[in-house]
Parts: sequence; structure tokens; C-alpha cells
Amino acid sequence: MKKILLPIISIIILGLLFYKGSQMRWAKLFSPGELSLAHAELELSGECDACHTKGKKLDTQKCFECHDDINNLRKSGSGLHGQELEPCLDCHSEHHGRNSDIAYFDMTNFDHRKVGWPLDGMHKKLRCDVCHESDSYLLTKTACIDCHADIHEGENGEDCAECHHQDSFKVE
Ligand code: HEC
Ligand code: HEC
Ligand code: HEC
Ligand code: HEC
Ligand code: HEC
Ligand code: HEC
Repeated sequence: MKKILLPIISIIILGLLFYKGSQMRWAKLFSPGELSLAHAELELSGECDACHTKGKKLDTQKCFECHDDINNLRKSGSGLHGQELEPCLDCHSEHHGRNSDIAYFDMTNFDHRKVGWPLDGMHKKLRCDVCHESDSYLLTKTACIDCHADIHEGENGEDCAECHHQDSFKVE
């Protein structure tokens, strides 16, 4: 009995290895190109179905399984993804190589009203990276008080915009 068990187990293991290997090779064969660095792991492990349905179609709902922060913005109606949007693929394509930019948008002519937070007054004159300090454009600082010191020391409440606007803090 022991004599046949070993070959059988070996065959099963070899079969599984071959299956996994061919799955990955098939995946490579049908992929239109390498994924960006951020998603490279998914390609190396053959997890195409992280973004595609079994029928191979792209399903952008699947993006939110890993990016629930973006889904939360959508639900709460804040930030870019909380607004009416053009199709996802206008800004997020894939399979254009490891060093490709998968969050493409026109920075120089960017219309900031699109994020539901129009730049006005003095804010219009600022460089983007004065407010967007990190690699990501997503910001958690969205209220005036998140970025501006409260000289009233709490006396007037937290909603600065009740009395101030983006041109100047001076009040006539
Ligand atoms: C991180 C998400 C992601 C993963 C993982 C991914 N893809 Fe894609 N794939 C996309 C996106 C986005 C597009 C659409 C590109 C476009 O049209 O600009 C696409 C398009 C395609 C297309 C073109 C047809 C279509 O449905 O639009 C094929 C074929 C494809 N992917 C195959 C694969 C294979 C094979 C793998 C696994 C090696 C894979 N993809 C893994 C995001 C992904
Ligand atoms: C299996 C998990 C997973 C899925 C599914 C997934 N992503 Fe990602 N994504 C990541 C990881 C991990 C990173 C890198 C770390 C980070 O920035 O959160 C990333 C990064 C990104 C970034 C930022 C990259 C950069 O260079 O700024 C964008 C944009 C993005 N993903 C879009 C998408 C879109 C669109 C889809 C659906 C087509 C998708 N992701 C599906 C895991 C995933
Ligand atoms: C005065 C500060 C300020 C300046 C300057 C600024 N932004 Fe923003 N930006 C914000 C705030 C606040 C948000 C977040 C809105 C929200 O989440 O409700 C934001 C959001 C964004 C988003 C959307 C991120 C997302 O996915 O939700 C993009 C893209 C963006 N800004 C691009 C730019 C560009 C490009 C410039 C320069 C032309 C710029 N911003 C200048 C404050 C600023
Ligand atoms: C007008 C351009 C634009 C459109 C349209 C758009 N996005 Fe984005 N998306 C962005 C920008 C800008 C970022 C921030 C990328 C960064 O900071 O690196 C982002 C980031 C993301 C991220 C990654 C966030 C992270 O954790 O870094 C995901 C996932 C995402 N978008 C999904 C989607 C989906 C799904 C759609 C369609 C419903 C969509 N986006 C439509 C511009 C867009
Ligand atoms: C109820 C109305 C009200 C609210 C709310 C309010 N302020 Fe003021 N703020 C004023 C008035 C009135 C002045 C001018 C008189 C003064 O100095 O007290 C002023 C002055 C200022 C000045 C000095 C302007 C200058 O150069 O003379 C700054 C800075 C300022 N406020 C910041 C803030 C910030 C930040 C917040 C939110 C945390 C805030 N304010 C909330 C009414 C308000
Ligand atoms: C994401 C950060 C951010 C948010 C949110 C923000 N600001 Fe600013 N704001 C800045 C930066 C950075 C500057 C330029 C440096 C400075 O003057 O502090 C600035 C400058 C200003 C100025 C001109 C300079 C001055 O001090 O007089 C005013 C007025 C102003 N902001 C008002 C507001 C009001 C009102 C809100 C809320 C509606 C707001 N800001 C929200 C970052 C922000």
C-alpha cells in the first residue's frame, strides 16, 4: 500500500503545481500588458480576477474591495469621487507597464470645482503642493480649521466659513 501512495501523492502535487503554473502563464498570455507598480503583485500571483469578472470583463466595483476609502468618499459625496464623474477609465487605465501613471488627470488645467471644493480668492494663487503635501491627492483636511489656526481660541466656534471667505480673514 505504502509503495503506491508516494507516487500518487507526487503526481497530485505535480499536477497542482502545473495547474497553478499554467494558470499564471495563461494569465500572462492574455494580458494586454504589464500592470503598474502599485498592482504588480496581482499580476505576479495571477490574480486577474481581483479586477476582472470570471467572464474576463473589467469590473470597477471590484476596485473598492481594496480601496474602501474611495468608496466611503463616494458614499459621503465628498472629494472628487463623491461627485458626478466621467468614466473611471478616463483617469485610471491599466496594463501600460510598471512605471505607468494609473491616476492620470491634467494637473495644469485641473478644474478644482470637480472635487466639490472650489478654490477661490487667495487659494487660487497657491501652488497645488502647498495643500497637497504628500504623494496622494486625497486630503483629510477639508475644513478651514484643519489648515488655519483659530485666533479666536474657540470663542466663535469651528465653522470659520460662517464669517470668513477665501479672499481674506480681515473683516470690515
Ligand atoms: C488592478 C486591476 C487589474 C488587474 C489585477 C488586472 N487588470 Fe486587466 N484591466 C484593468 C483595467 C483598468 C483595464 C482597462 C484598460 C483600459 O481600457 O484603459 C484592463 C483591461 C484588460 C483587458 C482588455 C479587455 C477589457 O476587459 O477591457 C484584458 C484582456 C485584461 N485586462 C486582462 C488581464 C489579465 C490577463 C490580468 C491578470 C494577469 C489582468 N487583466 C489583471 C485592470 C486590471
Ligand atoms: C487586491 C487589491 C487591489 C485591487 C482589487 C485594486 N487595487 Fe488599486 N491599489 C492596491 C494597492 C496595494 C495599491 C498601492 C498602495 C496604495 O496606494 O494604496 C493600489 C494603488 C492604487 C492607486 C494609486 C496608485 C498611485 O501610483 O498613485 C490607484 C489610482 C488605484 N490603485 C486604482 C485602482 C483601480 C481603478 C482599481 C480597479 C480597476 C484598483 N485599484 C484595484 C490594491 C488594489
Ligand atoms: C487651499 C488648498 C488647496 C489647493 C491650493 C489645491 N487643493 Fe486640491 N484639494 C483641496 C481639498 C481641501 C481637497 C479635498 C476635497 C474633499 O475631499 O472634500 C482637494 C482635492 C483635490 C483632488 C481630489 C482628490 C480626490 O480623489 O478626492 C484633486 C485631484 C486635487 N485636489 C488637485 C489639485 C490640483 C491639481 C491643485 C493645483 C492646481 C490643487 N488641488 C490645489 C485643497 C487644495
Ligand atoms: C477625473 C479623474 C478621475 C476619475 C474620472 C476617477 N478617478 Fe479615481 N482617482 C483620481 C485621482 C486624482 C486619484 C488620487 C490619486 C493619487 O493621489 O495618487 C484617484 C484615486 C483612486 C483610487 C486609489 C485611491 C488610493 O488609495 O490611492 C481608486 C481605487 C480610484 N481612484 C477608483 C476610481 C473609480 C472606481 C472611478 C470610477 C467610478 C474613478 N476612480 C474615477 C482621479 C479620478
Ligand atoms: C462668528 C464670526 C466668526 C467666526 C465663526 C470666525 N471668525 Fe475670525 N474673525 C471674525 C471677526 C469679526 C474678525 C475681525 C475682528 C477680530 O479680530 O476679532 C475676525 C478675525 C480673524 C482673523 C484676523 C484677520 C486679520 O488679519 O485681521 C483671523 C486669522 C481669523 N479671524 C481666523 C478665523 C478662523 C481660522 C476661524 C475658524 C476657526 C474663524 N476666524 C472663525 C469673526 C469670526
Ligand atoms: C487644505 C488646507 C486648507 C484648507 C482646508 C483651507 N485653507 Fe485657506 N489657505 C491654506 C494655505 C496653505 C494658505 C496659504 C498660506 C497661508 O496664508 O496660510 C491659505 C490661505 C488662505 C487665505 C489667505 C491668506 C490669509 O491668511 O489671509 C484665506 C483668507 C484663507 N486661506 C481662508 C480659508 C477659508 C475661509 C477656508 C475654509 C472655507 C480655508 N481657507 C480652508 C490652506 C487651506
